[in-house]
Formats: sequence, C-alpha cells, structure tokens
Amino acid sequence: MSEAQPLPESAPWIVLKFGGSSVSTAARWAIIRDLARARRAQGARVLVVVSALAGVTDALKSLCAEPDVAPRLLAWTRIEARYAALAAALGLREDATWRAQLHSLHVLLTAGADAHDALRWQAAVMAHGELLSSALGADYLRAHWLDARGVLLAHAQPNQSERMRRLAASLDTAPDAAVSAALARHGNVLITQGFIARDEAGDTVLLGRGGSDTSAAHFGALLRAARVEIWTDVAGMFSANPRQVPDARLLRRLDYEEAQEIATTGAKVLHARCLAPLRAPRVPLWIKDTEHPDLVGTVIDAESVSASPSVKALSMRKAITLVSMESIGMWQQVGFLADVFAQFKRHGLSVDLIGSAETNVTVSLDSTENLLDSDALAALAADLAQVCRVKVIAPCAAVTLVGRGMRSMLHRLEGLLAELGGERVHLISQSSNNLNLTFVVDEAVADALLPRMHALLLQAGALRADDAALFGPSWQALYAPAVAAASPPWWRGARARLLDAAARGTPRYVYHLPSVRAHAQALRALGAVDRWHYALKANPHPALLAALAAAGFGLECVSPGELDAARSHAPQAPRLFTPNFAPRADYAAALAAGELVTLDALHPLQHWGELFAAREIGLRVDLGSGVGHHEKVRTGGSASKFGLPLGDIDAFLALTQRQGARVVVLHAHLGSGVLDAAHWPRVYAQLASLAERIGTLRALNIGGGLGLPQRAGEQPLDLAALDAGLLEIKRAYPQYELWMEPGRYLVAEAGVLLARVTQLKSKDARTYLGVDAGMHTLLRPALYGARHGIVNLTRAEAPADALYQVVGPICESGDVLGSDRRLPAAQEGDVMLIEHAGAYGATMASNYNLRGLPLEEVFE
Ligand code: LLP
Repeated sequence: MSEAQPLPESAPWIVLKFGGSSVSTAARWAIIRDLARARRAQGARVLVVVSALAGVTDALKSLCAEPDVAPRLLAWTRIEARYAALAAALGLREDATWRAQLHSLHVLLTAGADAHDALRWQAAVMAHGELLSSALGADYLRAHWLDARGVLLAHAQPNQSERMRRLAASLDTAPDAAVSAALARHGNVLITQGFIARDEAGDTVLLGRGGSDTSAAHFGALLRAARVEIWTDVAGMFSANPRQVPDARLLRRLDYEEAQEIATTGAKVLHARCLAPLRAPRVPLWIKDTEHPDLVGTVIDAESVSASPSVKALSMRKAITLVSMESIGMWQQVGFLADVFAQFKRHGLSVDLIGSAETNVTVSLDSTENLLDSDALAALAADLAQVCRVKVIAPCAAVTLVGRGMRSMLHRLEGLLAELGGERVHLISQSSNNLNLTFVVDEAVADALLPRMHALLLQAGALRADDAALFGPSWQALYAPAVAAASPPWWRGARARLLDAAARGTPRYVYHLPSVRAHAQALRALGAVDRWHYALKANPHPALLAALAAAGFGLECVSPGELDAARSHAPQAPRLFTPNFAPRADYAAALAAGELVTLDALHPLQHWGELFAAREIGLRVDLGSGVGHHEKVRTGGSASKFGLPLGDIDAFLALTQRQGARVVVLHAHLGSGVLDAAHWPRVYAQLASLAERIGTLRALNIGGGLGLPQRAGEQPLDLAALDAGLLEIKRAYPQYELWMEPGRYLVAEAGVLLARVTQLKSKDARTYLGVDAGMHTLLRPALYGARHGIVNLTRAEAPADALYQVVGPICESGDVLGSDRRLPAAQEGDVMLIEHAGAYGATMASNYNLRGLPLEEVFE
C-alpha cells in the first residue's frame, strides 16, 4: 500500500485507531485495509494504531501473576495459536515479523520477572499484545511497522506510584514538525501500537485503561493530524448507554469539553483521557463503527454548531459511595473544611461531587478514581469522627445530565424532577463549568430510572433530538431496523395543490380524507374492539364526521354543540355523550333526545336524580393515575378533574338504584397522546375487574388517547401488540363489549396548516421567522410545548441551513409555533406547512387579538 505515488511534504496525516474486536478477524482487517486505502486516496498519510486482539491483554496480564514458568509457556502456546490462525486467515507468511515478536515474548516468559523490578517485566510482557497485532498488520497491509516506543515518551509525575508510572503512565505531547517529517520518510501508510510508550530510561511503559485511544490521540497531536478516527464496535457516542436505553440518540457533533464530560461521567466508548492532547492543537476526533463504516458516527471538535442549549447525554456511574458529614458544633469555624478534606487526602481518596449545607457536607467517592474497600472507608470514617458525625451511604449511582449551558435548561427539567421526586435523591450537584447536573440516587433504582429520565428529557425538548445537526438516529433505529420506516406523509405528493390552496388565503387548514380513511381502516382491523367512536372534539369538520361515520365509527360528543354537529353531519352514527362539569340543562336536553349519557360525578344523581329515572347510563371512573404527552392532557389521578373516584362507586350505584337507573357502560379515559400499547389492556383489565360489582354492564369503554409519534425517533404505537393485549383480556371477559373512542389518531396526520411568511428579524443570537398563523390558529405548541414539524413548501428542495424561531403575529411571547428549526433561508411570502395539525388544531383556534379564524379545506 505504501508503494503508491509519493505524497507532497505538506500532505496531512490521518490517524486511524482500531480496538481489540476490530483487529481480531481477517474480515475486520480487510475493512482496515480499505479504510486506510480510502484515506490514502484522499491524499493523506495514514498512521494506523492498533490494540491487541480481543482478550489478549487480559491473558497476558493474568500470566504475569503466574509464578511458574510451565503455565506461562502453556499460555504462550495458546496466544501463538491465535496469532497463527489469524495470520493464516490473512494469507501471511510464517517467517514474517510477527513471528519475531512471538519469539521475544517467549524469551521474556521463560526468564520470568526480575524480583527487583517485576513491574518493568510486566510492562514488557503486556506490550506484546500490541507489538504482535501491529506486526501482523504491517505484514498484511504492507505498511511500515513503527515502534511506538520510539516516538511516545512518558514522563513521571510528582506523587505517582511506581505502579502507575509503569502501567498507567502519562504522556505530554505537543505537535512536532520534526517527528512528522521523520515519520513521513517511512512511507505513506504506517502502523503502530496503542497502549505502549517508553520512559525516560528507555524502558517500555503502558498507558493504562483506554490506552490505545490515548496513544492515537497523542500521535494525532504530535503529527497535528487532520483528524483521529477511533474505529470501534458502535457508531459513536450516544445520548445514553444504548444497552440500557435503546432509544438513545447518536450524538453527531460535540465539542471537546462536552465529550470529555460525557466520557468522564460514564460513557465507555471513549476514554476521557484521550481528548486532552487533541484540544490545544484542535485535532478533530471521529468515532466510527468498524462493522458499519457507512454510519455517520460522532465528530468531536472545537467548532460549536449554532444551536440552542440542549442536554446532550444522560450518563451514569455506579459504585458511588457518599460520605455525609454532619458538623458537631464546629461549623463556620475557620478550617473545618480544611480539616475534613485533609483526612481524605491522608487516606489517598479523591473526592468527586460536593454538596454542602449549614451543618452538613456530603461528598462522593468514585470507585473508578479510588481504590475503595471497606477498610479504607472505615479508617477514613474513624478519623473523620474526630471532627464530625459521619454517615456512609452506598452503593449509590450518579446520574448526570451533560450539555453546554445546563443552567439555561432548568425550566425544561420539570417532568424529570417530578420523576426524581419519587426516589431518594441523596445529592444534587451542578458543575461550576455549567456543563453538567448530577443526581446521586440509590444504585438499585438507577437502571430502571435511566430510560424513564431519557424519555422525559426527549419529551420536554430538553434533549433536542430533532436537531439533526447535533443528534442522529436512535440506537434502535440504527441497529434494529426491523421497525419499518414510516411511509412519507401524504402532503409530500400534493405540493402543487397545497401551494394553490395557500394562494386562496392563509392561514388555512387542509385535511386529506384518504388519510383519515386509512387510519380508520387500520383501527377497524383490530379484532378485539367491538365498537369504535370518534372523539369529535379532535376535529368536528363535517366532511371528517361523514367520512368516519361511513367507515363505521360512532361519535363521542362532550357538548350540545358537538351533539348537534354529529346529528347533522352523520345522523346514522351511534352517539355517546360524555360531558364533564356541564350544566343541568345539557343533561336534560341530551336525555330528552335519547342520548346515552355518561356521568363522572355524584352531583347529577344527587341533585337532578329525576332526570335519570329508569334510564341506561354510562359511568366514567378515575383509575387513579393519568397518562399522556403533557400533564395538561392527563385525565386521571388526583390532579385531574375527571372521573368518579373508585371510593364513590358504591354511593353512585346506590343513587342509580334509587332512580331505577342502570349503569350499562363503564368508562375510563386516562389521557391523550399515548404510544405505549400496553396502556389500554391495563385499563381494560382494571375496568373488567370492577365490572362484576356493578352487575348491569353491557360494555367496557377504555377511552381514546392513541398517540402518534411527535418527535424524531419516537416509535409508532404498535397496533398489533395493542390488539393482542386486548384479546387476551377479552378471552377472560367475553360477556362485555369492548369500546374505544380515539380522536387524534384518526385525523392528526391528515391535517396540515398552511401559513405565509410575514417578516424576518434577527435579534441577539436568534432569527425569527414570522408567519400569519400563530397561537390563535394552532394553540398546541404554546399550551403543551407540542412539537409540530414545519417545512418551507415554497423551497422544499433547498438546503435547510438557517435556524429559526417560527413565530406568529399574536401579542404574547408564547406565540411560538416552532423553536430552533433548521429550515431553508426563507423570504416574505413563502408558504410554510405545519404538520400533524388535523387534531386539536382548527377546533382550538380563537380570534384572540381579533385576528380571524383560520380557513379550512378538504382534499378528497
Ligand atoms: N375520550 C375522552 C373522554 C376524551 O376526553 C378524549 C380527549 C378522547 C376520548 C380522545 O382522545 P384522543 O384519542 O384524541 O387523544 N387538546 C389536546 C388533547 C386533549 C384531549 C382531550 N380529551 C391535544 O391537543 O393534545
């Protein structure tokens, strides 16, 4: 490979680093060869840095502890067999350089450790993992084999133990043009070892955990490389550990400090130490997946992408020990903290997080930084007891939110804090560099907490996964593509018609009837549900009511107005009347018209009992908790005004009996925008278990609330799983009909809102894109922080290189339809399209500021 044409002296270096699993098979080496070739073809010099084959470093380490020569040499034969097999698979000659490395390992193992300098011997033995894999690679790639020890020099640090000096040495590297020129003389493609260096005496030393990444970074700095690429078994850094949170998003772009913080607070993919050398010379670092080289990966560099603050990652460290120190009358005395911390220093323990109060200081000790054992802790506690009362809390986990500008995101953490409110949070610590916020909780709850916290950050828009410049797909989407890609939305194929419609006036809602019918059909296919009702509050447009009635849907109404709409536009559809805190007259009128009325309070029966005499009615209960995309749409639990509390059921039944009324439908609707298919079977089971107590029931109505993905990467509701879950319960309760009453699911995607650009303005760091629709047209973003996709229909093909706040004309600062949207640079008059506006859009519009109501139009 290195025989290719000579490169000019100025040709940049690219450092490619491959970890243990990336060098363990012939197939992986073919990938390495192709990647090196591709970089070379781009005009770069390539330095390949490799780890030992997976498992070899551990094997070498354990044989170093073996006192007898025979087992050491036996282990050598196993290592030899592995390299020989790989060499054969790569088609290499037997007499090649890797054989010489095996021989030198054999010599060392035969001799055994020098009793006076065992660590020196251990370092020399363990270095052979990398010496071997790089020698093998040099033969295969026909690249120059570079001994890393000739280039990387370790410096002893003050207070560094001999063990650390030999086995976890520190380097201090700055760009050096002379080294770069010297290496260039060896050719265009070089291969060297990670993990090893030499000390001032010329002995081999190791670089400790994550050592190969560190080597690559030091080579990158020394050569002032165009970039360092770390090739590993995952596409990059993620917003959380993907093995715990499959929905974690790929982090496409980080600056050095953020990446460092994520690595320090728990991410394993990159060792925290390997960023420091790259920072000053501003060498970018890429993380890529060797098995899937086409995946985008993570880029870490100094350039900040223009974007509003976002939580980038949620990381976790376990095995945290907290030491809580309660002062005994010594607080505020000069030197108290100095005394306390002196004890930590004396016991060689490094403190990580600190929380303090008037009479208490609590600190955390991280097991990765400290050699913690119960003796060390007991000794520390005994000494501390001289100056304060000590409590050790362990095991704990530190869960950290990382992102630049953490303080300006606090308002988005409401849901997350509410979730943590249910746990014992021992310590909260905000870093003084404004990059992180850490919560220390019991270790036992941390694993379950992490995915919930991640979901809440996404939901609150604190982790701005929709900004494609910062975040990539979820781990699940990258590695489990079994989830079918969503089909493109209907409006993509209707651009010309939509632009025509906009020319007739904006703001204008457009509803696509085929899409409504398709959603209706998908629901009707669920075998478990006997009767469907459309909750027409979502969108009472006459054409939609007619289409859904024709598709076999009844209508769920909550006001006399909705009943009127249902009667006029879909007279044949069965109706439900489910008002809440409505006046007596509404009930009287509905009953007189023969509607099936649902009650969710005692008051109507207590005070207007005669209205219900001998009638069949429904009863809506509160099952004790709510669900949904925002707290304002959760309609169960003590914070919600809906539903009869379960404790009042007997009183309710007594009142119905007094009137000779019969409860024939038992109903619960706990919230809106739910994507978890397990929700409705749960409600169904709870209602079914109450049903016998009531005795007169014909149907169980488990409500609506079926959600649609709102944010990038959210998985759609799994209808098949929903059906299966419902059928399972139905088998146990075949005597009751099962009813449902969705609104949003049927119409949300069918509707778009068209608006026209009015004005543009830049102010401070933001650019505002004004449109003629606002919170008076579409209230959901202002009321729930709901996210609606926004596109520039006029410039559908243009690159999205501007970052806008999309705002309306209403005199309120909350009149924002979309925050930090990447869109094509727009001009006055452009037509903007706002997605998912078919449900709770037009129907929630107002004429606030005396701006008119939106126009509506239906596409057949
Ligand atoms: N049944 C009852 C008793 C309801 O109160 C509702 C909605 C539904 C069914 C239909 O829920 P859906 O399937 O559409 O989620 N304006 C909010 C939604 C409020 C829902 C109110 N009740 C939003 O824009 O998200």
